[in-house]
Amino acid sequence: MNEFANRLIDWYKINKRDLPWRKTKDPYRIWISEIILQQTRVAQGYAYYLRFIQRFPDVFVLASADEDEVMKYWQGLGYYSRARNLYAAAKSIAEMGAFPKDYEKVLALKGIGEYTAAAICSFAYDLPYAVVDGNVYRILSRWLGMDIPIDSNQGKKQFALAANELLDKDSPAIYNQAIMDFGALQCTPVSPDCTICPLSDSCMALAQGKVDTLPVKKQKTKMKERFFNYIYVRVGTYTFVRKRTANDIWRNLYEPLLLETEKDFSGKDERLLQKVLDVLKNNDGGVWNHQNLFWKPIKEDVKHVLSHRIVHANFYELVLPEGEWEILGYQKVSQDELYKFAVSNLVSHFFSLILEPNH
Ligand code: ADE
Repeated sequence: MNEFANRLIDWYKINKRDLPWRKTKDPYRIWISEIILQQTRVAQGYAYYLRFIQRFPDVFVLASADEDEVMKYWQGLGYYSRARNLYAAAKSIAEMGAFPKDYEKVLALKGIGEYTAAAICSFAYDLPYAVVDGNVYRILSRWLGMDIPIDSNQGKKQFALAANELLDKDSPAIYNQAIMDFGALQCTPVSPDCTICPLSDSCMALAQGKVDTLPVKKQKTKMKERFFNYIYVRVGTYTFVRKRTANDIWRNLYEPLLLETEKDFSGKDERLLQKVLDVLKNNDGGVWNHQNLFWKPIKEDVKHVLSHRIVHANFYELVLPEGEWEILGYQKVSQDELYKFAVSNLVSHFFSLILEPNH
């Protein structure tokens, strides 16, 4: 074993975190944990993992579940394409009859990239594939003093080569777990405590005073701004929601009436109400005017930050007189049933303001 792997594994034996997905060799459970942990911290992912595994204990249960229910179990975790891909992949695995056993077949599954394939194959099958993720870029760029951008093609190639060179091929499972925990606990993005690091005497970045500037990234992610106006339309005890089906954020999650605008619409209630009236339909010839409508701003300028987007949201409530109302593309649901629909964190926040105004 090389000195890097040796010290990493010794460090891990003392410092490792006791996590439920490390106590199994079941590729299904390892897969679920890795997908959850892709963009979610262990502290948050932990409870989701346990709930998910309890409801969907194996790939056949997941494959035969309803997609809406799977989305509901994902609610709050964000990056919902993970749940959609997970479900699609579960269906193909169930069709194959068992979880695939070699790297190429695992990699071919929907939503599984090189990182996740390496994690599953090393943890479940002890195959010698090194994981390469943000933690690994950080640790290797610092220890080896590599300043090539991690988001360049050349950089990716060089880091993948270095990672596979350093991998302990006799214990890939322990080595990969160790490097993840080392990145999460010791070689942290900001202010790592290098005085207690087992690799400090051979760390290039430390020797050259570059710990804070490595790894190097070529470009910053650009943020796109969107302006969402959500209107909770209520008729008696009913309201309207629709499923987001377009190839856009929050696909397959539900939401109340949405009017997206090019610019911020806060304070422009009159114009917004006019837009709402344009999409409302009344089927029993009822007339409506500003006297029998009740329009109420609930909250404006709510900023919701996603990975590549900022959603600026305004929330309103519109109470309509009893009657046969319709909104094209939306379904009428009882308020008591709202909790059953998978929604984004933003919509969940809005619903809580409407349904539990005192909280
Ligand atoms: N992050 C991603 N995969 C992980 C794992 N298996 N253990 C801890 N953190 C992780």
